[in-house]
Amino acid sequence: MAEGQRRGTFAEPVTRQPRLAPTFWQFDCPQQAACSQLTAPDSRISIGSPRMGAADMGIAFLDLQAIYRQDQAAYDAAYRRVMDSGRWILGPELLAFEKSFASYLGRRHAIGVGNGLDALTLALQVCGIGPGDEVLVPAHTFIATWLAVRQCGATPRAVEPAEGSFCIDTAGVAAALTPATRAVLPVHLYGQPADPAAMRTLCAERGLLMVEDAAQAHGARHRGEAIGSFGRLACYSFYPGKNLGAFGDAGAVVTDDDALAQALRARRNYGSHTRYAHDSEGVNSRLDELQAAWLSVRLARLDAHNVQRKTQAARYLERLAGVPGLVLPQVPEGDEPVWHLFVVRSTRRDALQAALAERGIETLIHYPRAVYRYPPFAAFGPAGRTPSDRLADEVLSLPIGPHLSLEQIDTVAEAVIDGAGT
Ligand SMILES: Cc1ncc(COP(=O)(O)O)c(C=O)c1O
Repeated sequence: MAEGQRRGTFAEPVTRQPRLAPTFWQFDCPQQAACSQLTAPDSRISIGSPRMGAADMGIAFLDLQAIYRQDQAAYDAAYRRVMDSGRWILGPELLAFEKSFASYLGRRHAIGVGNGLDALTLALQVCGIGPGDEVLVPAHTFIATWLAVRQCGATPRAVEPAEGSFCIDTAGVAAALTPATRAVLPVHLYGQPADPAAMRTLCAERGLLMVEDAAQAHGARHRGEAIGSFGRLACYSFYPGKNLGAFGDAGAVVTDDDALAQALRARRNYGSHTRYAHDSEGVNSRLDELQAAWLSVRLARLDAHNVQRKTQAARYLERLAGVPGLVLPQVPEGDEPVWHLFVVRSTRRDALQAALAERGIETLIHYPRAVYRYPPFAAFGPAGRTPSDRLADEVLSLPIGPHLSLEQIDTVAEAVIDGAGT
């Protein structure tokens, strides 16, 4: 492939074969150590706990068993249906879920894969992103966004969030472009749209691939348009604690591009559309029938759950307005966030978290370090203190979600008001 073609615009359909992910990457970070102690990838839920939350605390950050119990009959019926069908992989449940998820987002295709990290990796690979390519990523995100870029052999390049936002700054992206930049990977962090219309315009003008990391933003909208419909592809995680979560690992890529969808379907399945016809190289990353069946149940509840989150967030915003030392999340005009997380900022974050814990209120930190402060990515980090370093020191995620009542939100808000003054 000639260099000029490789740097070509992503308005063109992709015709070349995707490159294989290199296997050199050494993953050696505290997050992984935490995983080995049965802590989930983004530290939100303790897998060892039967309630997947702080069962013995007053107000749990997350309680997946409560979410299961709310619709137990429907989840159990889906389980029975799959067990009776005798189909476990690439069957009718996956097809049905893919169809309804694509239609929910208004996209032509959804391709179910094993998890959100694979969704990102495969999406970049089928677009031919590989060694020598630079991909612009937020400094403040979950590490998976960066790992996907490395798994393609490409180079992540950090962009800081805009002032007052948690998401990647579009102007920062424009300023960071180099001749090697081929793609931008905006993350709709915490369920907040990452300025996607402006990013789409910028990418179109500069001939860049835009892949949305929508792992935290199922159902969010920007100026009436669904998040997940701005990039050439968008990637989802259905990790259990997500707004649309499975009861295990799962993910999906959505796109309107028929050729990319076909390439993704083959790539997730050993490079094969038909048994033993391996026309391209691939991996094994398939969303299984049970998870797909449960996801269909949860998808039908997604809008209602998101409305609950929105109501809870509105209550927090109202109750916590003007609390000294507390910075509340902003919602720019035209954004409809889905409040995967409700994140406040305080320069006295650790004391506030301790005060809440004393009252039995579980909070978490998303994320305790900018990605370039983790050992595998240390070479990518600037020397001085950055906006993302400040966020890492100040952010605190308060409990939110369909397992909570508005009374519990009030209880948390009161504890925050008291804790902020201590
Ligand atoms: C922003 C973001 N991207 C990617 C991922 C990776 O998803 P998964 O854990 O399903 O691999 C996550 C998951 O937590 C995430 O929050």
